[in-house]
Amino acid sequence: MIEFKDIQIKYGDYVAIDRLHLHIQPGEFFTFLGPSGCGKTTTLRALAGFITPSQGSILVNKKEITHLPVEKRKIGIVFQSYALFPTMNVYDNIAFGLKLQKKSRAETDQKIKEVVQKIGLNESHFTRNVAELSGGQQQRVALARAIVLEPDILCLDEPLSNLDAKMRIGLRSELKRLQRELGITTLYVTHDQEEALTLSDRIAVFKKGRIEQIGTPYEIYNRSATEFVCDFIGDMNRLDQNILQAINQQTGSSLNPSREGYIRLERASLHQLSDADVALNGKIVDREYHGMYIKYTLNVDGSLIKCIEKNDGDVYFEAGETHRLYLNSRDIMQF
Ligand SMILES: Nc1ncnc2c1ncn2[C@@H]1O[C@H](COP(=O)(O)OP(=O)(O)O)[C@@H](O)[C@H]1O
Ligand SMILES: [Mg+2]
Repeated sequence: MIEFKDIQIKYGDYVAIDRLHLHIQPGEFFTFLGPSGCGKTTTLRALAGFITPSQGSILVNKKEITHLPVEKRKIGIVFQSYALFPTMNVYDNIAFGLKLQKKSRAETDQKIKEVVQKIGLNESHFTRNVAELSGGQQQRVALARAIVLEPDILCLDEPLSNLDAKMRIGLRSELKRLQRELGITTLYVTHDQEEALTLSDRIAVFKKGRIEQIGTPYEIYNRSATEFVCDFIGDMNRLDQNILQAINQQTGSSLNPSREGYIRLERASLHQLSDADVALNGKIVDREYHGMYIKYTLNVDGSLIKCIEKNDGDVYFEAGETHRLYLNSRDIMQF
C-alpha cells in the first residue's frame, strides 16, 4: 500500500502540491487526472524519489520512504518521451538496469526473453536500433525496460500522449491487460479523461495542486463531487432555474433552483428512457453526425440542451422538429 500523508511540495517558494493525502491499495491501477500544470508529475516524482517533499511523508507498505534514494525504492517509471538510449539497440536498452545490477548474462537473457513476450515485442526486434522503431514500439521498449526489473510499483507519466490516436487506443488496452496480468500496483498520470475512465480502478482528480475528488470511474463521472470534476471528466448540460423548477413540479424532487443543475448528454434522450421521470418539450436546433452516435441540440424554454442518440441506421430526427426530451431527475448533479 502507498500512503501520501499531508504532502507539500515546493519549487523555491512556489507551492506545487499542498496537503495531499492518498491511500493506494496493492495491485490497484490508480490514476492522477487533471489539466496541465496541476501537479500530477510532481506528485509522481516525489513517490519515485526525484524530488523531496517540503512537508509530510510517503509510505510504502507502512515503511517510510520519503528520503530513500531513488535506486532503493523498487519503482519502475515510464515517461511520455520514451527516454530510451537512442544509440543502443532494443536489447541493450531493456538490459540496461539488469547490467547495473550486475546480473549474469544468462539471467539477463532469460528475463528479457520473458518480458518482451508479455509486451508485444519479439526477439527479432532485439538488434534493431530504437530510433528506427515507431512511437508505439519505443514505448513498449520503455515499458519492458521498467518491468524487467520487477518493480513493486509502476509509474507511468502520460505514456501514450506522444502516440497517434489509433496507436494510443491499441496500446491502452494492452497496458491494462499487462497490468492485470502482472498484478502490479500502478500509478498512471494523464490529462485525458477517456484514458482515466477506461484504465483505472480509481482516479484522483487534481486541480491546482490539490485533489478535488477520489473515486472509481463510475463515481467520478456519475457522482462528480464538484463542478470542476463534472466539467473535466465529460460533456454535460447546464440546467437553469426554469428547467429545474419544471423538473421539480413534474417529479416532486427538491432540486435547488438557485443553483445550476448538470446532466450528462447521454442521460437525456429523444427516446423514452425506461427510467425517465421527466419529459420536456424542445425544438431540435442542431444535429451533429458522429458516426457511432448523433448529437442533437434542443431549445428547451430558451435553454440549449444536448443529447446523444446511438446511431440507429436510417432513423434520425430533423432540425426544426419539436420533440420531447426525456431524462431522469436522479441523474442531475448539483454542487
Ligand atoms: N522544475 C520545476 N521548477 C519550477 N516549477 C516547476 C517545476 N516543475 C513543475 N513546476 C510547476 O509546478 C506545477 C505543477 O507541475 P507538474 O507537476 O509538471 O504538472 P502536471 O504534471 O500536472 O502537468 C506547475 O505550475 C509547473 O509550472
Ligand atoms: Mg506532467
